[in-house]
Amino acid sequence: MTSRQTSYQPTPQDKFTFGLWTVGWQARDPFGDPTRPALDPVRTVNELAARGAYGVTFHDDDLFPFNAEDSERRVHIDRFKKALSETGMKVPMATTNLFSHPVFKDGAFTSNDRDIRRFAIRKVMRNIELAVELGAKIYVCWGGREGAESESSKDAYVALDRYREAFNTLGQFVLDNGYDIKFAMEPKPNEPRGDIFLPTIGHALAFIYTLEHPELVGLNPEVGHEQMANLNFVHGIAQALNQNKLFHIDLNGQRGPKYDQDFVFGHGDLKSAFFLVDLLERYNYQGPRHFDYKPVRTDGDSGVWASATANMRMYLILKERAANFRSDPRVIAAMKDSHIPDLEVATLASNETWRDLANDSFDPENAGARSYNYEALDQLAMEHLMGVTN
Ligand code: GCO
Ligand code: MN
Ligand code: MN
Repeated sequence: MTSRQTSYQPTPQDKFTFGLWTVGWQARDPFGDPTRPALDPVRTVNELAARGAYGVTFHDDDLFPFNAEDSERRVHIDRFKKALSETGMKVPMATTNLFSHPVFKDGAFTSNDRDIRRFAIRKVMRNIELAVELGAKIYVCWGGREGAESESSKDAYVALDRYREAFNTLGQFVLDNGYDIKFAMEPKPNEPRGDIFLPTIGHALAFIYTLEHPELVGLNPEVGHEQMANLNFVHGIAQALNQNKLFHIDLNGQRGPKYDQDFVFGHGDLKSAFFLVDLLERYNYQGPRHFDYKPVRTDGDSGVWASATANMRMYLILKERAANFRSDPRVIAAMKDSHIPDLEVATLASNETWRDLANDSFDPENAGARSYNYEALDQLAMEHLMGVTN
C-alpha cells in the first residue's frame, strides 16, 4: 500500500534553495558573540551543490560589504558567478539588506527621514540590476525595520503611504527597464522592531491590491513568521495560492509564539509542516523550496552542513508521507465518509440563483446530528506522518 523512496537524496529537480545568510549565519545573537567564522559565498555554493541543492539567494550585503567600491563589488560578483557556472547552481531570488546598517535603524521605505527613504529605494534598484544579471525572477522585500516600538514615534497611517510609494516606484523602475522581475513581500509581526508594518499574510495581501501594479507583487511568507503570531500557516498559504500570490516561500521551523527561531524545516510544528508540504504539492506550487533558517548557535561547521541536508530531507520525507496519506484507500474512504470531496461542489448549480435556495427540502435536525468522523481521519494522518501505515 505504501511506497517508499529508496533514499531521500535531494536533486536539483526538487528546487531546494538556501539564502547565503542561512548557512552563513555566524550565530551572533542579542546575548552573545559569533560562534562560527564567516563563510565564503563561493564555498557555500560548492557545499550546497554537492548536497543536491538547486540554488542560492542573497542580500546585496551578503555578497560584498555595504560600503564596497564598484571595483571591489565586481570582484565579489565575478567570483560568485564563476562558482555558479562551475556548479550549475541558480539564483532564482535576490533581496536587499535594509536592516543591518545603522542608517536603517528607523526603517528604510518608512523611515521618518526622507533622504534615508530615497537611499533605500536606490539600494534596492541597484541590487535589482544585479538580480537581473544573475537571472533571478523574484525580488523579496522583507520590511525588517519598517515599524516602530511606540505609536508616538511613527504615524502608521502615513507610513503606509510611503510604503506604497516605494513599491509603486520600484514597480515602475522594473517596467521601464523591461526587467522580468516580480516582487514578493515577506510579512513578519515583530523582531527586530517592536511591531512591524504589514505583519501577516493577510495584511500584506490587502496592501498589494492598493498598488499601481498589483500584478507585479506577491508574497514570500515564512513558516515561523505566521506562527510567531499564532496563525495557521497552512491556511495562510492556501489563501496565497488561491489568490495566485504565492510567488516564493521561506521554509523553516518555529515552536509557537515566541522569538523568531528559524529552526530547520519541520523541526518546529511538524504536523503543520506535513500539511504544508501536502498543500504545496497538491496545488502544484512551482517556485523554489527556499529554506530560511539558522543553524543552531551551538553547532560548528559540520553542524551547519548537517542542518542544510536536514531541511531538504525533511521536505522529501514529508512529501512522501503526504502522498502516501492521500493515496491510502482507508484515507480516501474516510474522506468520502466525512464528505470532504463535497466541498468541491459549487454551492449553487451554474444555472441557479439565490431564488432557487428557497426550494430545498432540508432537515437541519438530521444534518446537525451526523458525525463527520474527523478524529479517525486525523489519526490516519498522524500515523502516516509517523510512518505507520497499517
Ligand atoms: C527573518 C527574515 C529574514 C528575511 C531575509 C530576506 O528571519 O527575520 O525571514 O531572514 O527572509 O532577510 O530579506
Ligand atoms: Mn525568520
Ligand atoms: Mn525569511
